[in-house]
Amino acid sequence: MKTIAILGGYGRAGQAIALHLVKETDAQILILGRDLQRAQEAAKKLNAGLPAARAQGFSVNARDGESLKAALQDADIAINCVRTIGFVETVTKAALDAKTDLMDITLNPREIHKVCHRVHSEILGRGRCFIVDAGIIPGMPSALVGYAAARLGPVRKVAIGELMRFREGSREEVAQFLEDLQNLSWGLRVYQRGTWRRPRASSKRKMDFGPLFGMQACYPYKLSELDGLPERHRLDELGMYSAGFGHWVIDTIFVVLFLLKVGRGGRGAKIGAGLLDWACRRFSRPPFGLCLKLEAESADGQRLEVILSHEDGYEATAIPVVSCLLQ
Ligand SMILES: NC(=O)c1ccc[n+]([C@@H]2O[C@H](COP(=O)([O-])OP(=O)(O)OC[C@H]3O[C@@H](n4cnc5c(N)ncnc54)[C@H](OP(=O)(O)O)[C@@H]3O)[C@@H](O)[C@H]2O)c1
Repeated sequence: MKTIAILGGYGRAGQAIALHLVKETDAQILILGRDLQRAQEAAKKLNAGLPAARAQGFSVNARDGESLKAALQDADIAINCVRTIGFVETVTKAALDAKTDLMDITLNPREIHKVCHRVHSEILGRGRCFIVDAGIIPGMPSALVGYAAARLGPVRKVAIGELMRFREGSREEVAQFLEDLQNLSWGLRVYQRGTWRRPRASSKRKMDFGPLFGMQACYPYKLSELDGLPERHRLDELGMYSAGFGHWVIDTIFVVLFLLKVGRGGRGAKIGAGLLDWACRRFSRPPFGLCLKLEAESADGQRLEVILSHEDGYEATAIPVVSCLLQ
């Protein structure tokens, strides 16, 4: 029986993952966070209704490498759901020293990729497995490209659409969302004719997100997790497309805040989050949820379309994380 530690286990993503782990596995679950009481309460909730307790809560500060290493000592796998901007190395080193595999769902690709490249030979040398950029976004876009290649054989074109429709969130949630997106390492690029190119106005495309969300105009951007995929799967075209947030006012505010790099702390971040929060409350309309659409075409003209959607963004995150662990 495995022991799985969830760093940030009583946070929103951590709780959703813990619940699925309890349902889908027989693993022991360690809920870790800085607040002992919250960790223990979350563990108690998970244990309610189980024939024998499987979850335990512990206090740990992920910035403190030694105490994190001690907390991970009995874990086979650690799932990181803590925003580790500025201390990825501490978490990575603690996992390596504790001989724990690591799955990281956080949106901090620049720092995570840099650290993982640096310790790559150590990860392999110690027989460990580290999976980064896990979850729905990041996570599923690159998995969907692999799925298209597995289903279609030689695949020529892949487009992945993404749609987010939010109910109102707390200001803190909106501020964190804004900061997360700033860290996601975007770029305005589509892969065409052998390289990632700046998209033309004509690169915008209409994508059908199914009966719930319908046909949407989508705009291209690039996620760092797509790097290397065109070469690996010999694609002629690859693009990630966003259908925005469901109303032009929210989209405009978001684009302006994004271009001004608002979201990286400070007063601007608070004002920006307030503005985005107001726009979501005022203009967001149901149906709410998160949806990914895969459109792929093989070299011999076969087409494949897949829609993944969930009304709750944290469920949408937890399901691929736990599916990946089960595999
Ligand atoms: N890949 C995806 O699809 C996806 C989707 C959603 C979210 N995410 C990412 O997942 C991460 C968590 O998001 P969330 O919305 O769940 O955040 P959240 O609700 O704020 O939860 C964060 C958790 O981390 C804990 N924490 C914070 N600092 C800590 C530290 N130094 N040491 C130990 N624990 C610490 C918090 O508890 P205390 O503050 O009490 O310690 C809390 O339990 C973010 O990086 C987000 O971008 C990824």
